[in-house]
Amino acid sequence: MSGKVIAVVQQKGGSGKTTLAVNIAVEAVRRGLKVALLDTDPQGSLGRWFMARRERLGEAGLDFSTSSAWGVSYECEKLKRDVDLVIVDTPPKVDADLRPALREADLVLVPVASSHVDLWATDGVLDLAAREQKRAWLVLNRTRANTRLSEEVAQAATQLTAGVTEARLANRVAYAETLGLGLGAVEAGPKAARAEVRALADEVMELLDA
Ligand SMILES: Nc1ncnc2c1ncn2[C@@H]1O[C@H](COP(=O)(O)OP(=O)(O)OP(=O)(O)O)[C@@H](O)[C@H]1O
Ligand SMILES: [Mg+2]
Repeated sequence: MSGKVIAVVQQKGGSGKTTLAVNIAVEAVRRGLKVALLDTDPQGSLGRWFMARRERLGEAGLDFSTSSAWGVSYECEKLKRDVDLVIVDTPPKVDADLRPALREADLVLVPVASSHVDLWATDGVLDLAAREQKRAWLVLNRTRANTRLSEEVAQAATQLTAGVTEARLANRVAYAETLGLGLGAVEAGPKAARAEVRALADEVMELLDA
């Protein structure tokens, strides 16, 4: 694989964009890929994660840069020359600023924390993705096994124009903890979290190769 771009987008704050970006990145590095994270969110959580990682490990094992929304195209062009995979983390809003990230994307991932409110919030992003002729994939996040709510949201998600990945991330403290430590769940999370992230990475790699 060479020079592919994943954009992680979702209008709803706190849905898991940064969590997805980080965990897919760390697992991709473990698979031998050269990875760059690109943060367009002025909140800067991804940068904080990256600094924590460097402090903890000495070497992050992946690249990190920031750009304005409109600098994404230029940054991606540059990064793609050096790495196999660029993952773009975006702020929680939906407006024209998202277009460059969507335009650059080979794969658009939309985390949906398991609630109807989160699902409703995806409409705008899906419209924008469609305008860029990109098919978006919803990733159900913070699911709770055997709850009616999670199943209802999963069911409702299939009615939208987007795809829905089979892999889901459950609601686990480990995702919040590892994020704060500058790690990925595959590095320090429990077995179940590691398995979820690997399954998601498998699916993401397949979608990128498709
Ligand atoms: N599967 C999960 N299980 C438990 N906690 C989670 C999970 N996914 C995300 N979180 C936690 O929820 C919070 C929000 O997640 P995250 O920062 O990834 O969302 P975001 O979409 O990037 O937010 P923002 O829109 O503010 O950028 C964080 O504290 C994170 O650790
Ligand atoms: Mg974020």
